[in-house]
Amino acid sequence: MVDAMYGCDNDTSVQRRMSRELHDVIIESDYRQIIQNPQIGAVIIATPVATHFDLARQALEHDKHVLLEKPLTSSMEDARALVKLAASRDLRLMVDHITVYSGVARKLKELIINDELGKILYFDAVRSNLGMLQYDVNVVWDLAIHEFAMLDYLLGELPVAVSGVGSAHHGPHEEIAHATLFYRNGAAAHVHVSWISPVRIRRMIIGGTKKMIVFDDTLDAEKVKLYDSGVGVSTGHEANRRDVTYRANGFRAVEYTSGEPMLAMLDEFFRSITEHRDPLTDGLAGMRMVGILSAVEKSMKDRGATISLD
Ligand SMILES: NC(=O)c1ccc[n+]([C@@H]2O[C@H](COP(=O)([O-])OP(=O)(O)OC[C@H]3O[C@@H](n4cnc5c(N)ncnc54)[C@H](O)[C@@H]3O)[C@@H](O)[C@H]2O)c1
Repeated sequence: MVDAMYGCDNDTSVQRRMSRELHDVIIESDYRQIIQNPQIGAVIIATPVATHFDLARQALEHDKHVLLEKPLTSSMEDARALVKLAASRDLRLMVDHITVYSGVARKLKELIINDELGKILYFDAVRSNLGMLQYDVNVVWDLAIHEFAMLDYLLGELPVAVSGVGSAHHGPHEEIAHATLFYRNGAAAHVHVSWISPVRIRRMIIGGTKKMIVFDDTLDAEKVKLYDSGVGVSTGHEANRRDVTYRANGFRAVEYTSGEPMLAMLDEFFRSITEHRDPLTDGLAGMRMVGILSAVEKSMKDRGATISLD
């Protein structure tokens, strides 16, 4: 039960806009008025990444449950400290990995759990548009995190190693990048992200031994298709010869429940508080993403060197 809602932004023009548009929200000019208010039980932090750790730490120290926009923090050290602090005070710490809260994500997870795809061989995703160049993080921290969070949710396991290449053309941060995540069973996830693409692409292919998924979020209908396609290889009678067969039996559009992921994500945050349990994308999930992002960034600085994740 929410008795009152408060909002805050450093910027006075944003404060004025919030006052105009959010009639049920009490607008404060300094975040400390919110964090130190004993009537407030939970805070949502949607500020630039570099400010996440300090704001969340102060909120947790004042016994508030915390929901942070992605990514959780800008370093593993900070992520670990927040997870530890929240656990020591028995508070919920959640990060908004929004892709996980879509109807498509739930449907893909169901298909994987029901073994419709077979063994997952690869994941191939592109997320590109023209903009928005960020001043504080590179394109991997800004965009690829959506794909990494989806992979974390769908596969339920961490990659064993990562590599990444990227380039910056208009500032210090990479604006276009390719990241590869390597999994223990040989599967690989390739993620291409860009802020400098002339077209908006939101496409994901998941290849399994039985079936393959193509998800195109830019389509108006039939966004998710399940293809009965695959490759079979058997050793021929002659040495050094392989018999390769290709299966291409068309596709069927997959139905899924649509809904606003942001509402589902907020619902999960408030339920986790009232039900006294960890949310789906808890601090540990946030920490796993920060680990992957940091490793990809390190690899990009070394032109794609493979970085193992311990
Ligand atoms: N989940 C998503 O799909 C998604 C999409 C966009 C942005 N984000 C995340 O949201 C966060 C914010 O991104 P943005 O693009 O909205 O940034 P932004 O810079 O446009 O807005 C951040 C706002 O925070 C305010 N602010 C900064 N420090 C403050 C403080 N100490 N107290 C009060 N207000 C403060 C700024 O005045 C600004 O208005 C980032 O973590 C970003 O990664 C998530």
